[in-house]
Amino acid sequence: VTDEAFDAFYPDAVRAASAAFWTPVDVALEAAAMLVTRPGARVLDVGSGAGKFCVVGALATGASFVGVEKQRALAEVARDHAARLGASARFVVGRPDAVDWSAFDAIYLFDPFRVLPAADGPGVEIARERPLADILLTERLLSGARPGTRVVTYCGFGGDVPDAYEPVPAARSVSPHLRLWVKR
Ligand SMILES: C[S@@+](CC[C@H](N)C(=O)[O-])C[C@H]1O[C@@H](n2cnc3c(N)ncnc32)[C@H](O)[C@@H]1O
Repeated sequence: VTDEAFDAFYPDAVRAASAAFWTPVDVALEAAAMLVTRPGARVLDVGSGAGKFCVVGALATGASFVGVEKQRALAEVARDHAARLGASARFVVGRPDAVDWSAFDAIYLFDPFRVLPAADGPGVEIARERPLADILLTERLLSGARPGTRVVTYCGFGGDVPDAYEPVPAARSVSPHLRLWVKR
């Protein structure tokens, strides 16, 4: 499935923001494969936006995906999208600690706290200042996650993956910006 075909289901403003803000399909497929190692795995997307990563990941792997997103309107778009495509993905409105991280086997972070140098994408409101509190909160939640938790970052998250995580070198990847860690 091309990004164009997948994004066609979105409202105009959300589709227009896709190239800059939502994980491309090929990257989502690889990230989901890195995160899901058994049937029934539970994956959390921190800053799930319009749900593109969760929906692609759920359809491709059969695992269950949850997104946490601070913008209610985007979480609603994501819910509609998942329902239309029959994906096992649900979306919670809130900051990263709005869900219990101990319920997840794997975490995905696509630069959720980024600062934009120019105008925001249409339909997408992004903070002008990198919210340090959310970055520190995310580092703390990563530190508290269960041993064995898998973490994939795509373009980082503005903070550091804690030392308790072992980086896993990628042999070959669709993107140089994808990184995998596993908690010891
Ligand atoms: C780059 S987009 C990634 C979207 C999605 N993960 C994907 O890959 O398709 C980052 C998202 O994080 C959300 N976000 C930013 N700060 C957040 C916060 N403090 N708590 C929850 N979501 C946040 C933004 O609203 C945006 O939708």
